[in-house]
Amino acid sequence: MTSFSVGLLGHGTVGAAFHELLDSRANAIEAATGQRPEISGVLTRSRGAFDEILDGADLIVEVMGGLDPARDYVLRAMDAGRHVVTANKQLLSQHGDELWSCARENGVQLRFEAAVAGIVPVIRVLQETLAAAHVDRLHGIVNGTTNYILTRMAETGASYEDALADAQRLGYAEADPTEDVNGMDAAAKMAILARLAFNTPVHLDDVRYEGIEHLTGDDMAYAQELGLGLKLIGTAERIDAGVSVRVHPAFLYAAHPLASVSGPFNAVTIESQSITEITLSGPGAGGPQTASAVLGDVVSAMIPPASTPPTPARLPIVGDVESAFYLHLEVADRPGVLAQIAQLLGLQGASIRSVVQRGLGENARLVMVTHPILESRFYAAVDLIAGLDFMRARPRAIRVIDEEFV
Ligand SMILES: NC(=O)c1ccc[n+]([C@@H]2O[C@H](COP(=O)([O-])OP(=O)(O)OC[C@H]3O[C@@H](n4cnc5c(N)ncnc54)[C@H](OP(=O)(O)O)[C@@H]3O)[C@@H](O)[C@H]2O)c1
Repeated sequence: MTSFSVGLLGHGTVGAAFHELLDSRANAIEAATGQRPEISGVLTRSRGAFDEILDGADLIVEVMGGLDPARDYVLRAMDAGRHVVTANKQLLSQHGDELWSCARENGVQLRFEAAVAGIVPVIRVLQETLAAAHVDRLHGIVNGTTNYILTRMAETGASYEDALADAQRLGYAEADPTEDVNGMDAAAKMAILARLAFNTPVHLDDVRYEGIEHLTGDDMAYAQELGLGLKLIGTAERIDAGVSVRVHPAFLYAAHPLASVSGPFNAVTIESQSITEITLSGPGAGGPQTASAVLGDVVSAMIPPASTPPTPARLPIVGDVESAFYLHLEVADRPGVLAQIAQLLGLQGASIRSVVQRGLGENARLVMVTHPILESRFYAAVDLIAGLDFMRARPRAIRVIDEEFV
C-alpha cells in the first residue's frame, strides 16, 4: 500500500471535521487513486510543531484561518515542494499574488475550493469547466450569516438586531459577527472569484463593500409591495476594459435566480454570452460541508497535477458603475413634491420605474425604484433631494439588480 501523508494545520470546526471525514473516506480514496491518505501530523496552538509536520507530509492542509502565521506556513510548505489546500479567504484575498507566484515557482498546487461558498463548487467550475468561457459577470450570495439574517427579517418582520441574535443562537453567526455583517467576508470571497473569472489580480482593497447593519424591516416591507427581495449581493463584472468588484445590499426581482436562495445557503450566478447563465447553490459553511470541499481538493492534488497558469495582466478597477435604485423618502404631504423629486432625478438622467406612495397625516412616504443610472449621478441627485425643505428624514437608497433571465 502506498500512503499519502497530509499535514493538518488547525483542528477546529473545519480541521476536526476534515480529520474525521478523511479517516472515514480513506478506503474509497485509496480505491480511486491508488494511494491511502492519512493524517501525519496536526498543528494547533497547543499541539504539534510546524517543521516536523512539514517534513513528514506530502501535502499541507491549512485550516487555521488568519493571516499570521498561516501565510508563513503556506509559503514555507510550497517552498519545500508541498501542495497546499486552504480554506482561508482572507489570506488568499490579501496575499494571493505572492501565494500564486510561490506555487508557480515551486511547481506545486494551491487549491482553495472551501475558501468561497463552502461546498458549492464554484472555484472548480471557474477554473476548469468555464476555463474557455469569456465570463462577463458574477453575482453571489457568498455569506450565509447575512443571508440568514435577511431571510429572517423578510419572513418574520424581525428587526436586524433580533434576527442577528437568532442567527447567533442557531450557530449561523459568530459571537463577533463584524466581518460577516459589514460585508468584508463576502468582499474577500468576491476578490477571489473575480480573479478567477477575469484572470486578473484582485486584492481585497480593490473591492468596495457595504454591510447590512443599517437595513430596516420597513424597507423590506415596502420592497415586497414592489415585488423585490433584499439580499447581500457580491458583484464582479467587466466594464469596458476594466473590472468592478463590489458587495452591497441589493434588491432582486423574484425572477432572478438568487432571489429564492434563503437561510444560510450560498449561491453564485455566472454569466457569459456563450453559456447564458449558470447558478450554483448549496451550504456555504459548516464543519462537515467545508471539510468535504477540502477533502475534494486533497484528492484532486493526489492525482497528477495541472500546471499552474502564468501571472495574469492587471485590468483596471472601475469605480463608478450603473445600477437601478430603490429610494425611500419621508416628505411633507403637499402638492408638487413628487414632481420636484422626479425633476432632480431626471436632471441627473434617472427615470422612475415604479412608485408606492403612502399618506401619514401631515407627511407622506414615497418609495420608488429607478431605472439604471451611474451611481455617482444618482447620489448627486439624492444629495440635492436631501436638501429640499419638504424632506422629513435622510433619504434611504439601496441598489436594485434590475435584470431577469429567460
Ligand atoms: N467554519 C466554517 O464553516 C468555515 C467555512 C469556510 C471556510 N472556513 C475557513 O476555515 C478556516 C478555519 O475555520 P474554523 O471555523 O475551523 O476555525 P476554528 O474553529 O477557530 O479553528 C482554528 C484552528 O486553528 C488553530 N490555530 C489558530 N491559530 C493558530 C496558531 N497561531 N498556531 C497554531 N494553531 C492555530 C486553532 O488551534 P486551537 O485549537 O489551539 O485554538 C484551531 O484548532 C478559516 O480560514 C475559515 O475562514 C471556515
